[in-house]
Amino acid sequence: MTICEVPAVSGVHPALAGRFSPVGFDPELEISAAQVDSLLDAARMAPSAGNGQPWMFLVARRGDEIHRRIVPHLARSSSVWAPDASLLVVNCAHVLVEGTEDWEYSEFARYDLGQAVAHMTIQGLHLGLDAHQFRAFDRDALAAEFQIPPHWEVTTMTAFGRASHAPGEVRAAGTSRERVGRDDITWARD
Ligand SMILES: Cc1cc2nc3c(=O)[nH]c(=O)nc-3n(C[C@H](O)[C@H](O)[C@H](O)COP(=O)(O)O)c2cc1C
Repeated sequence: MTICEVPAVSGVHPALAGRFSPVGFDPELEISAAQVDSLLDAARMAPSAGNGQPWMFLVARRGDEIHRRIVPHLARSSSVWAPDASLLVVNCAHVLVEGTEDWEYSEFARYDLGQAVAHMTIQGLHLGLDAHQFRAFDRDALAAEFQIPPHWEVTTMTAFGRASHAPGEVRAAGTSRERVGRDDITWARD
């Protein structure tokens, strides 16, 4: 773990400005079924190209059978903090695979999934839950474990729970909170 500076932003909604990806979660916090429903509902409300809604989720509450089957597939880095989270959600995108026909807007599936996940994380903040999205797990092994069909690409995971540390206090090795400047993300503006 390394200590990292939290970037200063102004005028941004406090939920967005204060959001961070914790690397420690309260291992006691239980998340209710109603809270899980509201996270999924937030994802359902996300916009998507042609309203295709090309997303599916595998949802595991800490201690349940699905959670027990997910944990062995975490990478060493995420296995340090992700199992303590109250909820692990595996995020899957509907993708084209060989032998299937293209459909309108298929090229936007991962984009749409990202928005649905973003919706979930903001809803999580509304519920008092922090979130850490990550790809540090064995996607193929997880797909095999749950017999996820190939046209549902296992893309990322999100850990939800209550952070056990303050933003900027600790970071996962190799990650950073530094942000490129506004000028670096605009081709042109008046
Ligand atoms: C698609 C995606 C994959 C990520 N994968 C990992 C990961 O494998 N391990 C990790 O610790 N963080 C992962 N992160 C979190 C980022 O490192 C983090 O969002 C970034 O460093 C900015 O920090 P912040 O979220 O605290 O603002 C991932 C985030 C996204 C969106």
